[in-house]
Amino acid sequence: MAARTLDELQKQYGGRISDSKKGGMMRGPGPRRGHGGPGVRAKGKPKNAKQTIKRLLSYISKFKFRLVLVLVCMLLSTLASLTGGYILRPVINALVGESELAFFGFTFTEPLEYLAVILSVIAVVYLFGIVASYTQARLMLSVSMNAIENLRNDLFKKVQKLPVREFDSDSNGTIMSSFTNDIDNIDMMLHNTVVSLISGSITLIGTLSMMIYTNIWLTLITLVFIPLFMFLAGQIAMRSSKYYVGQQAALGAINGYIEESVSGQKVIKVFNHETICEEEFDTLNADMREKQFKAQFFGGIMGPILGNTSQISYALTAGIGGVLCVLTGFDVGGLSVFVNYSRQFSMPINQISQQMSTIFSALAGAERVFALMDRNPEIESCGELHSAENIKGDVVLENVSFGYSPDKPVLKNISLYAHPGQKIAFVGSTGAGKTTITNLLNRFYDIETGKITIDGVDIKNYNISDLRKNIAMVLQDTHLFTGTVMENIRYGRLDATDEEVIEAAKTASAHSFIMRLSDGYNTLIEGDGANLSQGQRQLLNIARAALSKAPILVLDEATSSVDTRTERHIEHGMDRLMKNRTTFVIAHRLSTVRNSNAIMVLEHGEIVERGTHEELLEMEGRYYELYTGKKELD
Ligand SMILES: Nc1ncnc2c1ncn2[C@@H]1O[C@H](COP(=O)(O)OP(=O)(O)OP(=O)(O)O)[C@@H](O)[C@H]1O
Ligand SMILES: [Mg+2]
Repeated sequence: MAARTLDELQKQYGGRISDSKKGGMMRGPGPRRGHGGPGVRAKGKPKNAKQTIKRLLSYISKFKFRLVLVLVCMLLSTLASLTGGYILRPVINALVGESELAFFGFTFTEPLEYLAVILSVIAVVYLFGIVASYTQARLMLSVSMNAIENLRNDLFKKVQKLPVREFDSDSNGTIMSSFTNDIDNIDMMLHNTVVSLISGSITLIGTLSMMIYTNIWLTLITLVFIPLFMFLAGQIAMRSSKYYVGQQAALGAINGYIEESVSGQKVIKVFNHETICEEEFDTLNADMREKQFKAQFFGGIMGPILGNTSQISYALTAGIGGVLCVLTGFDVGGLSVFVNYSRQFSMPINQISQQMSTIFSALAGAERVFALMDRNPEIESCGELHSAENIKGDVVLENVSFGYSPDKPVLKNISLYAHPGQKIAFVGSTGAGKTTITNLLNRFYDIETGKITIDGVDIKNYNISDLRKNIAMVLQDTHLFTGTVMENIRYGRLDATDEEVIEAAKTASAHSFIMRLSDGYNTLIEGDGANLSQGQRQLLNIARAALSKAPILVLDEATSSVDTRTERHIEHGMDRLMKNRTTFVIAHRLSTVRNSNAIMVLEHGEIVERGTHEELLEMEGRYYELYTGKKELD
């Protein structure tokens, strides 16, 4: 296999390059770190900025008191910087001999004494300003951090309530990236840009007023430069944001590639793909360098270009001001403070223009976060609500048809019943729809056609969490959380005592291997049970279900990785446990379902045969084929 080209790699891992080539203005941050997801990630430009800003503001407006203090501190620090500057006017005038050595009605004879007093006053004023800006920065940081905490909480709560279907369609990692990239960008905007915007505006108004107060003509000259500033800033921002998008796309692609190569190391080694991987990585890395260079270059020249332009305006103002001093008698002190103000005046404009791309990417991120929050949650229940207390486990499926997408039916007209205490098995070839049936039982997916009842009540009439409390499941894909073995089993029933947990582990034949672990039940499980064997992971998942007192148990290939002897042990244990409970078992190893009350043979989403093991064998149909074929293989 030859290494893929840059285009192919970007398409598969980044998915956004074509977008960046179009060079839309002010695009967002791109794919999440670690994944190069296409789709939603591509749209960096906020669509409904007004609505998004309003919603974001609702998060910070909860901290009104602190915000008012922030505003007051900003005002005070701006006031301090303006006053500090203005005090110099009489000083310079006095020192060049234009006026006498006086300050607030006090006259001085010694210039040095005069200077010392004035400098002390300026120092106090600036110190005051420093304290005000420090307080403001701290307060704003606490407001933004709290707001982000709330936002993250809201998002997490929402994600917990999303239906399983939403996670199926999240192949490009939108949900994960909202938690990382998007929230990071919002955070950056809240505690950085918002402050710059507000304090910048205050400084602008303040300096402009002081400039007008000092000299109206010179003010007009400074203002002439504003459109030039805006134009330059806009041009650079447009270019840099274009390359910024390219950089983010390249970053997404390279991160996605690294993640896949790390997690798929074993497969890479098995098939000797190291060289191809290196080549492909090299391609992505070179692309990353190129994009990064452009993005950083344009990002970096904004400051110097705007800075130099403001120097021109500064020099012109000083020159014309000098002429005014000579011709109109404008005081030198006035000129001196004015040129200082004119410099201060351009600063916030520079700052804000440089942060435009942060603002846009944060807004685009916020839009995605809110879109995720607005997704429809799981429907808790519909119709008349029934209590799920004392459910016996009488399960009936009536003409159930279902497809993950409407145009592709997976289950067709499934009808079956299971009385409390019965064991019903599903067998059939891969992809026949066995797992899908169990997915419908606990409402991972809601059905449109047909009806599923438990104890005669439609499952939609139970509260969804009450319903799930009554169904213990061992899913086909095992999952263990970071925590001890004890905690992982206790996941099945949080109020279980240690003894009950150990009992459940014994039922699941997990006890003996747990005791052989370094810390027994206190052994820490990491990374989805990477330190356990596949079969051991399954045993823990079974123990978890065994701990639950739910009247309905679903075992989906629960023992597929366990040796046959252990499997038999588990079966005995579970049989005891399931005396009065309804059990649904899915297994490819047909020997494990022989003793079921009924076996359903599924083919292409339909039950093609049903009956007990003996009845089915007698029929010599599909089950017979599967069973005897299996036997031959054995
Ligand atoms: N989340 C999903 N979204 C879309 N289609 C799915 C989804 N899960 C399963 N399918 C499709 O539904 C069909 C039935 O899948 P199901 O998982 O029920 O099979 P199964 O009988 O459990 O197979 P196996 O024995 O391999 O576990 C398959 O064709 C599969 O492609
Ligand atoms: Mg399955």
